[in-house]
Amino acid sequence: MTLASGRPTFSIHTYGCQMNVRDSGVLARRLVAAGYSEAASEDAADIVVVNSCSVREKAEDKAIGKLLMLCAARRDRPGLVVGLTGCMANRLGDGVFKKVPGLSFSFGPRAGAVLPQLVERALAGEAQMWVPDPERAGEGASENGVSAGDGRGREGDAARSGRPLAQSFVTILYGCNQRCSYCIVPFVRGREESRDPGVIVEEVREEARRGARDVCLLGQSVMRYGKMGFKWPDSIPSPMGFTEPLPRLLELVAREVPEVRRLRFTSGHPLGVTDELVRAMREIPAVCAHLHLPMQSGSDRILRQMRRGYDSSRYLEAVRMLREGVPDIAITTDVIVGYPGETADDFEATRRIMEEAAFDNAFVFKYSPRPGTDSALVEDDVPDGEKCRRDQVLLADQDARGQRLNDRWIGRNVEVLVDGPSLRNASRWSGRTEQNKIVVFDPVDGMNAGDFAFVSIEGARPQTLFGTVAR
Ligand code: 5AD
Ligand code: SF4
Repeated sequence: MTLASGRPTFSIHTYGCQMNVRDSGVLARRLVAAGYSEAASEDAADIVVVNSCSVREKAEDKAIGKLLMLCAARRDRPGLVVGLTGCMANRLGDGVFKKVPGLSFSFGPRAGAVLPQLVERALAGEAQMWVPDPERAGEGASENGVSAGDGRGREGDAARSGRPLAQSFVTILYGCNQRCSYCIVPFVRGREESRDPGVIVEEVREEARRGARDVCLLGQSVMRYGKMGFKWPDSIPSPMGFTEPLPRLLELVAREVPEVRRLRFTSGHPLGVTDELVRAMREIPAVCAHLHLPMQSGSDRILRQMRRGYDSSRYLEAVRMLREGVPDIAITTDVIVGYPGETADDFEATRRIMEEAAFDNAFVFKYSPRPGTDSALVEDDVPDGEKCRRDQVLLADQDARGQRLNDRWIGRNVEVLVDGPSLRNASRWSGRTEQNKIVVFDPVDGMNAGDFAFVSIEGARPQTLFGTVAR
């Protein structure tokens, strides 16, 4: 314990998506601004906050297990404060204290401003405090207004989350109004709310000042940016002549923050792939040739039941527009296997469409019924063994496809943003291309994480490229 030194230390453990990673970074800065410092390790921390995910049951089980373990650790670490936030906090409300009685506090993902106060009260001995999300996220408020302002803590939060320092995230759209039948997100992240472009620019600038060169703009359904209860300010022109909010935002951020050499946005939706967006991706140099475009299924019958709002041909049309309009684009996806009623034919349709779309990478999820969603009302009738088999089949397909697509990079010279020593083998370094492909290479003298370098590609595996730094 470091209480003796007078500054209690904290650690944040993050599950789930990039939005949670971003939220954890903001929470860390809130605590630093309030006078706490980041612990060298979770074991040494006086305060541990778990940022949770609800998207599948397994994700929730992990967070609950972690919280129980932390509370049990109080036997050896009396006074340890254990808190919860994120999507599961919202889903369980104050019911979480029945599952984890030792919890000090729990608060929703949009209630982060209360964290310092909760910590203070918990250190004074209060327990089981629950703070739900406010009605609105507090538009106009910058999430960076809480930063320590001098870049301290940067290494802390980035290194601990295993995230490269030069890559960063900024939320542009809170919540989600779509009602996909299987998805818990609208329940736990609330209504869609687009953030003000001026605030977004300010936050991206702050990330750049802290060393970010690759910034990803986040929203659960990011292409809905500016579509609800929002008017793009007349005072911000679009020299490139865009009329839609997301292309205008990309243009604005690229123009205002040139230090950010790479701009991305995620997650996409095929209905949001417009001619303007494709033009923005092609003509704004900072915008990367990369899009994560969840497909979920290739079966029109299942897509209808999921209420995704598109069929497989509309999805493939979006892919065609992107491939024709954006040279060398990498497209990645999410797919759910074992949705209720998914037959062998439905599954084969998914395999076929994945092949036609020629995905660079795919994340495959076994369907998990979530309480309160519409699909949870119908029987989860695909046996787990069959879900596993379908998962394996899609991954094997993707491996073969990934190899084929990656082989095409051999012989080319690509620019990478250097991440530093590779996770598998610290004597080799890795970096990422504009397409977000991982490239492994031997470092050269004077090379640092966060540098840009050219690498000539000599080898490929389904998820990795290998090469030599070009002099
Ligand atoms: N079961 C399994 N996977 C799900 N996803 C969302 N909800 C569920 C669920 N109930 C997947 C989707 C989404 C990704 C983040 O998680 O593929 O794109
Ligand atoms: Fe998980 Fe979805 Fe919440 Fe992200 S938004 S943490 S994926 S439930």
